Amino acid sequence: MNFGVLIACLIWNGNLVQSNKQEIIEDLKNIIFKIKKSGDDFGPGQTSIPAFTATLSKNFTPPLNKIIKFDSVKTNVGGHYSSSTGIFTPPRDGLYMISATIRSTNAKFLHCELRVNDAVKEKLFGTNQSTGTANAVLKLRRGDRVFIQKDFRSGESMIGRDWSMFSGYFIA
Ligand SMILES: *[C@@H]1O[C@H](CO)[C@@H](O)[C@H](O)[C@H]1NC(C)=O
Repeated sequence: MNFGVLIACLIWNGNLVQSNKQEIIEDLKNIIFKIKKSGDDFGPGQTSIPAFTATLSKNFTPPLNKIIKFDSVKTNVGGHYSSSTGIFTPPRDGLYMISATIRSTNAKFLHCELRVNDAVKEKLFGTNQSTGTANAVLKLRRGDRVFIQKDFRSGESMIGRDWSMFSGYFIA
C-alpha cells in the first residue's frame, strides 16, 4: 500500500487513531523502517521490533543469587539484550513474550528464576540432564531489567552448548 494512502486511511478512521494513537505511531515507525530497508539489503526478519535469543555456550556452575549471562547471542534486534550483563531492557512499554530453558547436569537439580527488576515472575527447575522452562507474557515498562537468575541452592550446574537459552520479543 502507498504510504500516503495508509496515512489517509488512518486519519479517516478517526476513532481508531484516537484510542490507539501511541501504538499506531509505533507501528508506523516499523512500517517506515521496512520501507527504508526495502532496497537490496532487505531480507527475512528485518524489523525494528525488539527481539532477542541467546544461549549458553559452555557448561558452568552459576554463582548463587547471580544473573546468568547467556553469552552466545543469536538474535538481538535493537541490541536490547546484553550478553555482558545477561539483562534484557525493553526499549518501550508493552506486552512481551519472555522464554527461557535451562538444562541441569547429570544426577543434579537446577533451580533458576525469571525476574523483572528483582521480582520473581516464574521459576525454572531441571533435573538429571533434563530441562526446565519458563514462558511468560509480561507487561513490561521501558527500562525494566529482565533476566534469569540462579537461586540460592548450591551445588547445581548448567549444561551449555546451546542446551540452555533465554529469549524474548515485543508483542504489542
Ligand atoms: C539420570 O538419568 C539417567 C538416564 O535416564 C538414568 O540412567 C539415571 O539413573 C538418572 N539418575 C538419577 C540420579 O536419577
